[in-house]
Amino acid sequence: MLSEKMNEALNAQANRELYSSYLYLSMSYYFESTGMTGFASWMRVQAGEELVHTMKMLDYVANSGGRAKMMAVEAPQLSWASPMQAFQHVWNHERMVTGLIHALVRVAESESDEGTKRFLQWYLEEQVEEEESSDRVLKIVQAAGSESSALKAADKELGQRRFKFPSGFEIFPYSAIPTTIGSLKK
Ligand SMILES: [Fe+2]
Ligand SMILES: [Fe+2]
Repeated sequence: MLSEKMNEALNAQANRELYSSYLYLSMSYYFESTGMTGFASWMRVQAGEELVHTMKMLDYVANSGGRAKMMAVEAPQLSWASPMQAFQHVWNHERMVTGLIHALVRVAESESDEGTKRFLQWYLEEQVEEEESSDRVLKIVQAAGSESSALKAADKELGQRRFKFPSGFEIFPYSAIPTTIGSLKK
């Protein structure tokens, strides 16, 4: 059973994960509007991953005696000065989110909630991967600079990325949830 404070903190983080999805979707359509379909595709995969982060967290709340709550999602920025600026934004954003997950772990500790602390390990590991991948793509885009043929090559390279559900968790169908969440509960 989640404490009221833990319930609120997890719902607030799920809202930030959904904002992340919205932000990357905004970047995806920004790149689509500038004809950079590879970058658009990379951002679309990123947006899909953030939706998975959102639902995995809300499912945990719902399956742990809490109540998943939908709240207003902040409107993201709509355009960026350059591809490099957008990828720099991704880099900064992922580091900020890592800080939010650490803060959430501290809430679980203060609530003596070992189950939630264990559940959040997945997010901590995910953030390590997110930081690594945002670092890697930022370097690729930085190296391309503003040179058009190099940018086109980077666009093509990032366009190779494909979406994959994390092992043991898919967002559909709902019937899949109790078994995947079950192992994470206290
Ligand atoms: Fe996330
Ligand atoms: Fe992320």
